[in-house]
This record gives sequence, structure tokens and C-alpha cells, in this order.
Amino acid sequence: MTFYGTVVLIHIFSAIIGMGPGFILTIVAKTGNTMTELRHSYKIRKKLHMFVMIGGLLLLITGLTMGFLNTILFHMGWYVTSLVLFLIALAMGPVVLGPASKPIKALLESHKGEEIPEEYYRLSKILFRCEHFENGIFIVIIALMILKPF
Ligand code: HEM
Repeated sequence: MTFYGTVVLIHIFSAIIGMGPGFILTIVAKTGNTMTELRHSYKIRKKLHMFVMIGGLLLLITGLTMGFLNTILFHMGWYVTSLVLFLIALAMGPVVLGPASKPIKALLESHKGEEIPEEYYRLSKILFRCEHFENGIFIVIIALMILKPF
């Protein structure tokens, strides 16, 4: 197998290991029905997010490596579009998702009792909307990777 082939292999494994858990983060949070369950759901999310971070980083490193090994890729529309979309999705972490999840984490720590307050549903609606948008970006990237349409 060529070096390029090995990089493609790592890239595809990273996509499965990193993106798979990423797509279920929202569902995991939605399964909590009491404050104890909700805290546990967010603990699971934190662990799953590790896969997303490692897989995502590997996707970017291997994707760029393929570009440097085969520089014609930098002139391909699907490649450049995916790279830009990926960087937007990456920036959404600290710019959008971080600030949206901060008040939720504070609420999970401070709230007393088992009943989930209305405030949580209001805050989580905003966070989940951002997460759905981010998932949409990843679906577009996956489609571009496979179809390479332009
Ligand atoms: C959400 C992020 C990403 C996912 C899920 C993903 C997934 C995939 C998959 C499944 C393939 C195999 C498609 C096929 O050959 O039929 C692929 C190929 C490829 N990806 Fe990605 N990718 C992602 C991000 C990136 C980024 C950011 C870059 C560039 C910096 C990149 C560069 C490439 C290249 C060059 C190939 C073609 C390999 C080849 O067949 O020669 N990918 N990607």
C-alpha cells in the first residue's frame, strides 16, 4: 500500500470514529428525564466528545496531508469547500457551542431537586439548534468527500 493509501485509510477510520459519536451527542442529552439522569447524560457526552476531538483533528491532519501529497487537490472545488466548511465547524466550537453550553453546565451544577427546570429546556433548545446546524455541515462534507462533484 502507498503512503497516500495509508493516509486515506487513517482518514476514513477517523471519519467513522470521530463523526459517528458526534452525530449522537444531541440524542444522548435528550435522554435525561430527571436532573440525575441529565447530569449523567452530560457526563457521557463529555466522554463521546473526546472521540469527536481526536477524530476531527486526525481528519484535518490527514486531509491536509493528502493535499500536500497531491497538490492538485487544492484546485478542486469539493476539497476547498470541505476544508472551509470544516474550519467553520471547528470555529463553531469555541465561538457558538462553548458559550451556548456554559449556562447549561452552570444550571446542572447549581440546580437542587430532581425536576428539570423550564430554564434548561429554553437553554438546551438554543444549544441543540446549533448542534443540528453543525451536524448539517458534516453531512455536506461527507457528501462532498464521497461524490467529489466539482
Ligand atoms: C467531517 C469531516 C470529514 C469527513 C467525515 C471525511 C470523510 C471522508 C471519507 C469517508 C472519504 C472517502 C471518500 C471516498 O474516497 O469515496 C474522504 C476522502 C477524502 N477526504 Fe475527507 N472527510 C472530512 C474532512 C476532510 C477535510 C477537512 C479534508 C481536507 C483538508 C479532507 C480531504 C479528503 C481527501 C483529499 C479525500 C480523498 C482521498 C482519495 O480518495 O484520494 N477531508 N473523506
